[in-house]
Amino acid sequence: MLKLEHVKKTYGDTTILKDINLEIKKGEIVSILGPSGSGKTTLLNLILGLTDIDSGKIIYDGEDITHIPMEERGFNIVFQDYALFPHLNAYKNITYGLRNKPNISTKEEVEELIELLGLKDHLHKRIDQLSGGQKQRVAFARTMVMKPKILLLDEPLSALDGVIKESIKERIKTIAKEYNLTTIIVTHDPEEALTLSDKVLIVNGGSISQYGTPHEIMNAPSNSFVQEFILRQLEIKRNNILTLFHKEGAIKESYTSTNEKAWQVG
Ligand SMILES: Nc1ncnc2c1ncn2[C@@H]1O[C@H](COP(=O)(O)OP(=O)(O)O)[C@@H](O)[C@H]1O
Ligand SMILES: [Mg+2]
Repeated sequence: MLKLEHVKKTYGDTTILKDINLEIKKGEIVSILGPSGSGKTTLLNLILGLTDIDSGKIIYDGEDITHIPMEERGFNIVFQDYALFPHLNAYKNITYGLRNKPNISTKEEVEELIELLGLKDHLHKRIDQLSGGQKQRVAFARTMVMKPKILLLDEPLSALDGVIKESIKERIKTIAKEYNLTTIIVTHDPEEALTLSDKVLIVNGGSISQYGTPHEIMNAPSNSFVQEFILRQLEIKRNNILTLFHKEGAIKESYTSTNEKAWQVG
């Protein structure tokens, strides 16, 4: 339903995106994964309509939207820095877009979303009184109440830590599946991309390195970049975690055996 054909983007003499061809089906969660500076945000902004493309086509539901302005595309984005309004409380931020288009979401739908995102107790707080995770969820809710045809998220989890990150990942998945919402997420974290999405688009040096399901990428990396930079990173992470758990096990074992010895002696 969303198709990019031979999309090219340059800034001055620098080619940022070379020849991007890509298809995203309705309801799919797709991650755009690549190193810093590889053109991920640029690609997201091209789809959003915030940035013009040099050549190529963007097609949505069979319609060429390459030159359709951003407001008319009906896609919506959660920016990397959330871009919340500091002078409004959380609730007013969430419902901001509905001031001019009140019929897009009913009061019940807004309440349901607030419930789903666990924001009920924070609605009257100022933005500077919210934690990183709460700000992220407010930004997410503000975008979702506008019922975008495609939801774009630029590094939505990078400012979050540990448990909150995992819980927001789950919420993004739940919402995308519940609303059958096509979701495109930019990330530089392989673990995040591979555990969150139906498909992962790996970009490097302005080109697509591989586009496939997490399973395909894990089992059939199509080139050395995917192998070295993506899989290797995951492998190191996995080994570190296994080592940690193994050590904990080892400590427990020795504790038990000392204990047992103590019993035997006793
Ligand atoms: N408006 C702009 N003008 C000039 N160069 C830009 C502009 N936006 C991005 N770039 C350059 O394009 C490259 C890709 O940027 P970006 O898409 O933000 O990368 P990523 O999101 O993958 O980190 C970078 O080298 C960046 O400096
Ligand atoms: Mg970026």
